[in-house]
Amino acid sequence: MNSLQSISRGAVSSWRTQSNGQRLLRFFLGATWVYAGWVKASDPGFLTAGAPTYIGSQLGAFAQSSPLGPFLNHGVEHAILVGIFVMLSEFAIGFATLLNVAPTSAAFGGFAMATGLWLSSSFHTSPYFLASDSAYAILWLAYLLHMIGKRKMPSVNIERRGVIRTGAIGAIAVLASFAGRAFPKAAAASSSAKSTSKGAKGQIIKLADLPIGGSFNFIHSTQGIPAILFRSKVGVFAYSAICTHQGCTVSYDKGSKQIICPCHGAAYDPAHGAKVLGGPTNTPLGSVKVKVSGAWVVEA
Ligand code: FES
Repeated sequence: MNSLQSISRGAVSSWRTQSNGQRLLRFFLGATWVYAGWVKASDPGFLTAGAPTYIGSQLGAFAQSSPLGPFLNHGVEHAILVGIFVMLSEFAIGFATLLNVAPTSAAFGGFAMATGLWLSSSFHTSPYFLASDSAYAILWLAYLLHMIGKRKMPSVNIERRGVIRTGAIGAIAVLASFAGRAFPKAAAASSSAKSTSKGAKGQIIKLADLPIGGSFNFIHSTQGIPAILFRSKVGVFAYSAICTHQGCTVSYDKGSKQIICPCHGAAYDPAHGAKVLGGPTNTPLGSVKVKVSGAWVVEA
């Protein structure tokens, strides 16, 4: 019997022997982790420096307020590797949970990952129940404890067939990642204006390159954060592009004239102080001081 047959038989029998409550929990967690991997694999910006959803920007934003800040700052230096590791881990944990391959290890991996996300991105979310990461950590822990409770002693399966099955899950995770790259979703909106010349430190864009009603994405030269510059009839203004919910990088959607967060759908109104129009946050985007100096828009 080859490893795929072995996996499918083991998966079918495991689903049969579980209670409805266990099946629901297992399906929800497994499918959510596979979907989380797919969202990253199919996002052309996730591993592309400078894109609104770039993993390095997310890590840098998380580092500003997370208790894991120094660790995350180190991760920014190796952002591509961190992103690939996270994406493959999500696929592997999700498929292993759905297919019952090393399920205890997969549940522990899910618990560790959700706890890491909670400490990284939503540690300061208030009230705490708006942070889904903490809820996922508890769901994984409950599933893990249930499986451990059914055993006399927790053990790790290191027999040859177990190693082959685990290797097959790794191969499925890699294939799923390539499949995501083959079916990319539309890239997040970027600047409507294009800079025609590179300025000195603190110079953002030539005023002539930013039409009234236009926007321009830039990285603040001293704070190192992504930001979005706007020009209206009355002048120029800018906001931090770090979502006030869990720190994802937001982008301006020209169609709706809103700043949108790709992670959980927060929407902000750039024409009114970036106040919140919807989504899981009540805090407007931070303001970034800019002004016109000669021919340039500069950081103030
Ligand atoms: S990070 Fe959750 S809505 Fe932006």
